[in-house]
Amino acid sequence: MTQLHTVVFPVAGRGTRLLPITKSVPKELLPVYDKPVLQFAVEEALDAGAKRLIFVTHASKTAIPNYLKPDNALKAALDGGGKTELLRALDDVSLDNTVEVIFVEQDSPLGLGHAVLLSAPHVTGSAFGVILPDDVILGTPCLTEMAAGYPGGHMIAAMKVSADDVSKYGIFDAVADGDQHQIFRANGLVEKPDSETAPSQLAAVGRYILDICVFDALRTLAPGAGGEYQLTDAIAADVGRVELNGFAFSGSRYDCGNHAGLLQAANARAAQVGQALVAE
Ligand code: UTP
Repeated sequence: MTQLHTVVFPVAGRGTRLLPITKSVPKELLPVYDKPVLQFAVEEALDAGAKRLIFVTHASKTAIPNYLKPDNALKAALDGGGKTELLRALDDVSLDNTVEVIFVEQDSPLGLGHAVLLSAPHVTGSAFGVILPDDVILGTPCLTEMAAGYPGGHMIAAMKVSADDVSKYGIFDAVADGDQHQIFRANGLVEKPDSETAPSQLAAVGRYILDICVFDALRTLAPGAGGEYQLTDAIAADVGRVELNGFAFSGSRYDCGNHAGLLQAANARAAQVGQALVAE
């Protein structure tokens, strides 16, 4: 089991697919039934043993540091009012002082690769985790099972998608059959291929364990798709030098970067905590 000391959370994006809500509310704080999107990501990192959480954020998203900060006045008010249940909800989201929280500002959303590079001065160890919070994964904590199987190099969570959907994802050029193996070797990643040329139907989703050498690739990276610095381009540039593996995770992933995904995640979470909210 690899000890993941540091986990990076890139949360500086504009969240345009969730406008108009995201005009003032960061998508990371939208609810998945009983908890904000970001809370699931933080809990997953802690479950994997992380001791340093780095949030790459934007100055306009002040609600994110506010959410992560302890609120002693609110605690005292709930305590004084005997509201033990509510106090417990607040305690559940409090980070204790064994966990270090660092905020790094990304002035402009130049891409996920750029956001991850900004975390470099604060990353220690030979490998670190990255969680994209808007990919909510319910069930077995994804980063924990990845860390347990981590063979070194770069590893990215993978899930099988339909042939029609390959053009929405980074797709693994898998050497071994990812249907058969939880960890499979890949020769590369192809960003949003069409269904005819896609090397597989195994899509990369927002959990990574990266060797720190990814920062070298990120430093020399040119802008890619959409004019943005793409993390997948840096990982692909390392292929041949650094082993790349996909990890077919056990949980269920919801894309909470769009309205339908948020609703599906909320229903799944409600069922998980025993509340059937919306009839199928
Ligand atoms: P997304 O592309 O899903 O987020 O990036 P977005 O850009 O906010 O969403 P839309 O497309 O406008 O709706 C994946 C993750 O990377 C972060 C985002 O915050 C999200 O968590 N990100 C993306 C950054 O932190 N910085 C960037 O420059 C780009």
